[in-house]
Amino acid sequence: MARYTAVKGMNDIVPPESYRWMRMEEDLRLIASRLNYEEIRTPIVESLELFQRGLGETSDVVQKEMYVFEDKNGKRLALRPEGTAGVVRAFIEHNLGIERPGPHKFFYIGPNFRYERPQKGRYRQFHQVGFEIFGDPTPEMDAELIYAAMLILDHFKVKGEIRVNSIGCPVCRPAYRERLIAYFRPKIGELCGDCRRRIDINPLRLLDCKADAPRERWSDIPLITESLCPECAADFERLRKALDIFHVPYVLDSFIVRGLDYYVKTAFEITAETGGTQNAVAGGGRYDGLVAATGGAAVPATGFAAGLERLLSVIPADFYAPQPLATGFALFDGGVADLLHFTKHLSHHPVRFMAEYTPRKFKNALQKANKRGARHLFIFGEDEVKNQQVLYKDLVTGDQRLFGQHEIMAIVMMLMEKEVSP
Ligand code: HAM
Repeated sequence: MARYTAVKGMNDIVPPESYRWMRMEEDLRLIASRLNYEEIRTPIVESLELFQRGLGETSDVVQKEMYVFEDKNGKRLALRPEGTAGVVRAFIEHNLGIERPGPHKFFYIGPNFRYERPQKGRYRQFHQVGFEIFGDPTPEMDAELIYAAMLILDHFKVKGEIRVNSIGCPVCRPAYRERLIAYFRPKIGELCGDCRRRIDINPLRLLDCKADAPRERWSDIPLITESLCPECAADFERLRKALDIFHVPYVLDSFIVRGLDYYVKTAFEITAETGGTQNAVAGGGRYDGLVAATGGAAVPATGFAAGLERLLSVIPADFYAPQPLATGFALFDGGVADLLHFTKHLSHHPVRFMAEYTPRKFKNALQKANKRGARHLFIFGEDEVKNQQVLYKDLVTGDQRLFGQHEIMAIVMMLMEKEVSP
């Protein structure tokens, strides 16, 4: 038989790692709803055109990274490469901006697909948590959003660097583009193939080219922050003031340009030591034109997304210690019914319990519990059953004691106390 493996760049998430995923996602949902973001779930498949129009024909994602297919009707569809375009579509389609007054805050968690060259931290199926705010044009809201990103990092004890920039707007960016083209044109022979191709269609992307490393190579590249129109410059100033009030530590970085074309004004990225070259944990910014470009009203918007694989890789390893396991065994056939009762009673409490109903000798039960990495062992032997008791053994300290079988609360309390102070 052929041995099937997962598709290249797409990962299974299996125990024990899946436990960390579950806990991380629980925490993210909790943080999001505490900050008053409401969950939005959109399909993984959208029409191809939504992404082409939204993310920009010149972006790498649209040009070469999308999974595109036709359905049986010949409709051109794509697996979503990111979450924002779908959320914008749903926002318009369900009149979410009309039925309630703004600002509207949404979050989502889910998989995305990009046909990139897989490496550590870069996958073809990856997951994001995203935050999107519609209906507020202020840079103060951008600052609040960046503050939310900081709270997430803090919660997970991740040391990240928040890099902030303004990439201008349709008023001031065209002139900056021309300055960049004029700067790089004489250097075209020194640029990588991608940048030679991009110089006329998307010259801003030359700034974050990993191959050319322009930041290190040339010190006199024109910076966007020197070319902002008065409105963008004033907004950028307000953003920075608001970030200071939130005590968000950030660095100004004129080389943050973002890979998707919908951004205006505020753009930011968060980097962390992921141990690989893919160190951008999160990114986002303002996208005031996207709702209108998708067919909605002129609704300003801002948002960001964090990559969950990358986030998890920088969350300290001991951040989610799995709850210690308790196991239960019967030593003879007559103990099985009591063990079943015990399983039923414990199921109502927050303890991790696993029973096995094949009777076995004490020594064998002990071995099995140890092999499984259990901390607690409960035994139903002949004496215990006769006296309506259960024998408890702490497999770490070796302590042993008897409980009455009805003393479920005392047992639960003991297990929980041991979790806090072993
Ligand atoms: P993005 O910068 O393309 O932005 O992706 C956001 C984050 O997703 C990245 O910082 C990274 O952590 C993660 N990520 C992206 N591609 C991959 C990959 N191939 N493998 C693993 N992780 C990856 C967006 O997607 C925007 N929609 C963010 C946004 C929301 N802007 C406004 N609202």
